[in-house]
Amino acid sequence: MLVTAALPDGASSALRAAGIEVVGGDPGRDLDATALLEAVAEFDGIVCQLRDTIDEQVLGAGAAGRLRVVGTVSVGVDHIDLVAAARLGVEVCHTPGVLDESTADLAFLLVLGASRLAWDAELELRQGRWGGWELTHRLGHDVHGAVLGLVGFGRIGRAVARRAYGFGMTVLHHARRDTGVDGFVARLDDLLGQVDVLSLHVPLTEATRHLIGRRELALLKPGAVLVNTARGPVVDEGALVDALESGSLFAAGLDVYEREPEIDPRLLAAPRTMLLPHIGSATGPTRLRMAQLACEGVLDVLSGRRPSHPARRW
Ligand code: GLV
Repeated sequence: MLVTAALPDGASSALRAAGIEVVGGDPGRDLDATALLEAVAEFDGIVCQLRDTIDEQVLGAGAAGRLRVVGTVSVGVDHIDLVAAARLGVEVCHTPGVLDESTADLAFLLVLGASRLAWDAELELRQGRWGGWELTHRLGHDVHGAVLGLVGFGRIGRAVARRAYGFGMTVLHHARRDTGVDGFVARLDDLLGQVDVLSLHVPLTEATRHLIGRRELALLKPGAVLVNTARGPVVDEGALVDALESGSLFAAGLDVYEREPEIDPRLLAAPRTMLLPHIGSATGPTRLRMAQLACEGVLDVLSGRRPSHPARRW
């Protein structure tokens, strides 16, 4: 099995115990796209990460050799061509369920941080611009009593909702199908006009690319806050920056970007914006569990068992 980047200690021990030879994963020696393409045919399985592009070319090269399974250390699978994988008979496994609470914690950090302008305030202090307590300066929005709108109500969206109730928020949500849960709003457009904070929890697919564009941002209440811990391209970043600059959007909290790891300089300079480098699931225990789960999926397939978390098209 090939590992494209270093895994947390102990993550691949089940594979090694089963007698599978694990190649790669040496700290500081991540495999780049060219090396992956050259090597892939020689391996029965790959454990990859969301920064690896597992497209038709890689899958085709792999399937022409020995490749039978790809386990990604992520819940998102937008970096993998699932259609090509199915056609070529390569199983894909991912890591749902083990990162919900950590990601929801981070989403809530952004809800709080963006609403209260925490990043701008910290920057002011660090840059020596803070002149002392001021009555009318750095006034954020209250989170308690605000209406939170969740777009997507899967495991992570629901985990964010639980936190929001604890903070005294009202929670509405939109999903593709009626959830049967209080607060469901069938049309996204109807949700947008009702919420003070909008938080995104959908996978990236052709249907969700630029789901929040210029039109949707204009439908938000003036002064709303946008939080994105899902995938960058779910939001039209150019339209987002315009809304922040014009002040129609009060603030934004982002963990994901349209062209990671490049960040649009306009976004870096945008006012009232808290930016984190895609660390939603980045805690030690969560990352270990994710890596173990990806390895377990590969082991299942290589041992002739059905993997517990096969990736399916949304
Ligand atoms: C992180 O973004 C993931 O998909 O696990």
